[in-house]
Amino acid sequence: MKKLTVKQLSIKNKKVLLRVDFNVPLDDKQQVANDIRIRESLPTIEYILQQGGTLIIASHLGNPEGMVKPKMSLLPVAQRLGEILKRKVLFAPDCVGSKVKKMVQALKTGDILLLENTRFYLEEKRNDPAFAKELASLADIYVNDAFGTAHRAHASVAGVARYFDKPACGFLMVKEIELLEAVLKRPQRPFLGIIGGAKVSTKIGGIRNLLKIVDHLIIGGGMCFTFYKARGYEIGKSLCEDAFLDEATVLLNNQKIYLPVDVLIAKELRKGSPTECVEACNMPVDHYGVDIGEKTRKDIAQMASRVKTIVWNGPMGIFEIDEFTKGTAHVARSVVDATTKGVISIVGGGDTIAALSKYGLRDEVTHVSTGGGATLQFLEGKKLPGIEALKDQIILKPIIAGNWKMNMDAAESRLLVRKLLELVGDVKDREIIIIPPFTSLSYVSEIIQNSRLRLGAQNMHWTRQGAFTGEISGLFLKQLGCEYVVIGHSERRHIMGETDEVINTKLKTALEIGLISIFCVGETEQEKQNGQTEEVISRQLSQGLQGIENEVHKLILAYEPVWAIGTGKTATPEQAAQVHKFIRSRLKKNTAILYGGSVKPENVDVLMAQQDIDGVLVGGASLKPENFARIVRFSNP
Ligand code: 13P
Repeated sequence: MKKLTVKQLSIKNKKVLLRVDFNVPLDDKQQVANDIRIRESLPTIEYILQQGGTLIIASHLGNPEGMVKPKMSLLPVAQRLGEILKRKVLFAPDCVGSKVKKMVQALKTGDILLLENTRFYLEEKRNDPAFAKELASLADIYVNDAFGTAHRAHASVAGVARYFDKPACGFLMVKEIELLEAVLKRPQRPFLGIIGGAKVSTKIGGIRNLLKIVDHLIIGGGMCFTFYKARGYEIGKSLCEDAFLDEATVLLNNQKIYLPVDVLIAKELRKGSPTECVEACNMPVDHYGVDIGEKTRKDIAQMASRVKTIVWNGPMGIFEIDEFTKGTAHVARSVVDATTKGVISIVGGGDTIAALSKYGLRDEVTHVSTGGGATLQFLEGKKLPGIEALKDQIILKPIIAGNWKMNMDAAESRLLVRKLLELVGDVKDREIIIIPPFTSLSYVSEIIQNSRLRLGAQNMHWTRQGAFTGEISGLFLKQLGCEYVVIGHSERRHIMGETDEVINTKLKTALEIGLISIFCVGETEQEKQNGQTEEVISRQLSQGLQGIENEVHKLILAYEPVWAIGTGKTATPEQAAQVHKFIRSRLKKNTAILYGGSVKPENVDVLMAQQDIDGVLVGGASLKPENFARIVRFSNP
């Protein structure tokens, strides 16, 4: 489901609480050592200011465990933000309380106030409602641009949202979600994960997540010594977390995992310390492992050159010290080389981004994600609390969906969709959904994959998997790139005898697996003549939506009077509008309602001019590309 974005809010003269991820590294002199996360938030900050808003910015920095730790103050960040924006950034020495309230009251339109570290309060991590409410009381609007923290159910990320009418995403959040969704929807395989960093404890979740989606996983960095120890190797004075030895032992059986075959060792962890490369199984007792070795670097380069997608999170050694930086630098180079050959590369996590920047390669990968843990959890398909807390966006653009029904074989589908791309591929202000028969989904999906056209399926089974010969699971549809699925089409209700109960189960399953249902309702000719239109639709809605009434905004409704489908008889615009209004009155939450039934280029303009008609579901006319294109561009010459 798409989320409401800052662009859809009216900001003028409003105070905006903007949650960002300013968790940036500070150097020994308490100066910002790397300001990428600050810079990535600029589009949202600048937009809010341009729109006449006043900014109250909240973030955490580090992990002060609920205590005020001056070393984790955001004051240096306020200074850096001011330098970048070339304007004054006020700093509040706290994030809640009377002092902050006073500062907020004194703000003028266009002012920027950065609040002190939210994690100075234990309530932040506990997602304490009173703390969240107090934060919320500072502003009129809430925007979350902190993708890097979206996997945390913390007060300023998740809890705070419920105190606002329309909590929305900032531009960075939108960009991250869209790019990662594209990889998730259709990962190009083989898919290689590279995970590094110091500790198994902080990355074990990431390792488990990546193992579910990748074909190969390289484990480097300090954490590989716990794995070596689990294997029975000597690891000298290297990092090891004994608490994870059992888990490491189990993971070692996973055929997807590659562990470095050689290691760079040093006697001391300091600049200028002499190094030596040894086999992983031959480490001396008095040395530290500080980086991956030469043979491993070559292996990684080779693996990177043979895959189509790479996700990299975590450095391969103590890259901050020049003598120990080669492994990380080589991996960065291998990822960049692969990217230039068309591989999709996603690099995430603060240290990894810092490493890429150090080698001047930050702009050479497909996507630098400001998230580390958030990116990994997103790629596993998990729902992130910081994103879930934001308001779902009712698709604001008119929706034009083409249901091809049982027409168009594979070859015809290819031709039709190519033609559609030519005719409407550039249309930005419509949500265009193509709904081919099952047998054409994979072809169509491939052809439209980098376009604005969206893919839907005509039906799915009510459960995810099992002994249902001839049926199709919604999960398979998702894997093929479908975002939408038609549920309860009248042809299935009347010809195939599908009941409201079955439809209800299908809608629930689609919701669970993240497919947007286009839920069809409508009366027959007979029912219309008997004056039963509202009664029938009422029943279809209440039974179809039983138990999911509060989630109806995650579906699209479609009113398709059975007597108008494929008959050439269209409901008059007034008739249609009246039923649409009735449907809306029966829904607990607002959502888009489409009209379907003999929609053609000739009648689309008047239909779409009706207040409660948000789009059309087109059958016959969607089979002729020129007609469908005219429908898409209704009222647009
Ligand atoms: P027609 O546009 O052919 O009437 O079909 C409508 C329909 O059933 C779309 O799902």
